[in-house]
Amino acid sequence: MKVTVIGTGFVGVVSAAIYASFGNEVIGLDIDENKIKLLEKGQVPFYEPNLQDLLLEQQAGGNLKFTTSYEEAIKEAEVIIIAVGTPSAPDETADLRYVFASAKSLAPYIKENAIVVIKSTVPPDTLEQTIAIIKEVTNTKFYGASLPEFLREGSAVHDTMNPDRIVIGAEDDFVFSKLEELHSSLKAPVVRCRIASAQMAKYTANSYLATRITFINEIANLCEKNGADINEVIQAIGYDKRIGPQYWYPGLGYGGSCFPKDVKELAAYSRSVGESGNLLNHVNEINKERIHRLLEKFAAEIGGFANKTVAVLGLSFKPNTDDMREAPSTKIIPYLSEQGATIRSYDPMAKYVALPTDHQEQFSTIQEACENVDVILSVIEWPEIVGFDFGTVKNNKEQFFIDCRNQFDAEKLKGQGYKYFGIGRG
Ligand SMILES: NC(=O)c1ccc[n+]([C@@H]2O[C@H](COP(=O)([O-])OP(=O)(O)OC[C@H]3O[C@@H](n4cnc5c(N)ncnc54)[C@H](O)[C@@H]3O)[C@@H](O)[C@H]2O)c1
Repeated sequence: MKVTVIGTGFVGVVSAAIYASFGNEVIGLDIDENKIKLLEKGQVPFYEPNLQDLLLEQQAGGNLKFTTSYEEAIKEAEVIIIAVGTPSAPDETADLRYVFASAKSLAPYIKENAIVVIKSTVPPDTLEQTIAIIKEVTNTKFYGASLPEFLREGSAVHDTMNPDRIVIGAEDDFVFSKLEELHSSLKAPVVRCRIASAQMAKYTANSYLATRITFINEIANLCEKNGADINEVIQAIGYDKRIGPQYWYPGLGYGGSCFPKDVKELAAYSRSVGESGNLLNHVNEINKERIHRLLEKFAAEIGGFANKTVAVLGLSFKPNTDDMREAPSTKIIPYLSEQGATIRSYDPMAKYVALPTDHQEQFSTIQEACENVDVILSVIEWPEIVGFDFGTVKNNKEQFFIDCRNQFDAEKLKGQGYKYFGIGRG
């Protein structure tokens, strides 16, 4: 099958490489010339485990090409997959301008019976608007579909090869069959549904997971008032099959390229349809304040951050990615800087681009970042950080260890001389 993926970001590159690995002829298209130049040379422009090898393999096999030319990418394509970004607009709705721009650009070249598929996360009604934009330019008969993407950065290749389900929103049997055929190499249930249901399913999944994080943080706040330990509470509730032991992350709240913007969009959507009391509005507000609230609490516990040297460990929004979109570090470092702290940061992959006023320096090892600091702030649970022996960097002065993800053995750190603070450990 001839497939074109528009937008070669995280989702686009992973999807293009995997569809190529199924034996399809795939073209990845982007307006970012630098990105396409790198991809043409077989270089992934971001860090994602296992993607580099897959990309090189598919390019060498001749199944995968990249271009900036809409004409070249669209004129033969049977399936056109839109995977451009949908960031938050200032009013917190999803900014759909890249989706609509791609529709306008592809329209002149679309071939008879091509299927335009939206993989980007978009609110209900977006596919209809996209189809209308294309129809303004061409009389060629084409179809539309929604194919939401559920991969997670950091395990994107694995997730795409082993999806929990494929969700296809469409109106025609031809479209369902063709998109099922495209995914026939995967062993996953296919949910055939209405277009609006497919679009809502993606927002529902992300909003539910974000709400679960917010929920356990709210419980962690209460544990701190009464001597309970949130990790023990999670273990206790996890045995209940209705609740389950997985996906409990008490900590700094949710971040990253998707959850914040998707909750914001669904909250904004709820307001636009007269449901302004919707729970997601509260989840959004709680999460926005979460990091500041915790930093203020930690500051009170350690006598303030002013004039302290702080090691900030883990800058990306989660382990195994260099993605800094809505990463906690992007709020923590400016806060510490404002408080008058000196920051020594470390991340295995991500880079923090400091403001000129920041007293912040990034180091290439954990040892260097922790050298003679007053506070160690472990933000993201990269295995390398969690596995590090902090006894080797303990000095003779009073030192605080702030464990933002409850990843460490509190007793061990206390035994090494640190004053330990975690989340929801009363
Ligand atoms: N990143 C994730 O983990 C993830 C997971 C599931 C779903 N999604 C959704 O997938 C979509 C893409 O996310 P992403 O993280 O890959 O985005 P991204 O920002 O990494 O990449 C988007 C790409 O689209 C390109 N682009 C923008 N306008 C274009 C145009 N008119 N023509 C061609 N290319 C254009 C950009 O140059 C960029 O390379 C979003 O809607 C997102 O919500 C993302």
